[in-house]
Amino acid sequence: MVGIDFGKPLFTSEEIQRKIQELGSRISKDYADKDLLVVGVLKGAIFFMSDLLRSLRISVRMDFMHCTSSSSKGKGVNPVQMLCDIKEDIKDKHVLLVEDIVDSGVTLQYLKQMLIDRGPASLKVCVLLDKSERRKVEIEADYAGFRIPNKYVVGYGLDYKDRYRNLPYIAVLPLEEREG
Ligand code: IMP
Ligand code: MG
Repeated sequence: MVGIDFGKPLFTSEEIQRKIQELGSRISKDYADKDLLVVGVLKGAIFFMSDLLRSLRISVRMDFMHCTSSSSKGKGVNPVQMLCDIKEDIKDKHVLLVEDIVDSGVTLQYLKQMLIDRGPASLKVCVLLDKSERRKVEIEADYAGFRIPNKYVVGYGLDYKDRYRNLPYIAVLPLEEREG
């Protein structure tokens, strides 16, 4: 059985919720007079998306896309495998893309371009975590929760080999849990 006690969290569940309230207020203000479609990227954004939506004080709609990212696996490979796309035509609509983390930026850049090509009225991006030191392409989230150092983190949706997503806090993955 894999242990799930990683000692001191990088961000506690309370800290995460406080940050989400801040992001939620900004988003509610910015889209007060707009009809917004929020698109979450599965699986990593699942908990962030659900808490963020409940912090909003405006009426929104939601959709999801399911992607796997292979941006770390070198050149020549499509950086993102789309397992399930949104169903809705987003032309002339206001869209907010919600991701767990921006690391090299390759995944977000790819997804952003894919949605822009569909002609939305506006497209903004909201991420919970920003590992800005590792950026390889020029991209910034419009709404970002926490800036984090160059460490591999898990919990609150973020995984290592599809595990640890269910931790209610965010922790640095201990070296002994990593293989290879
Ligand atoms: P990017 O394309 O390098 O920005 O990578 C983005 C994707 O890599 C994210 O959507 C995550 O799925 C994954 N990722 C990057 N850093 C971490 C981390 O520290 N923990 C868990 N997943 C991560
Ligand atoms: Mg992800």
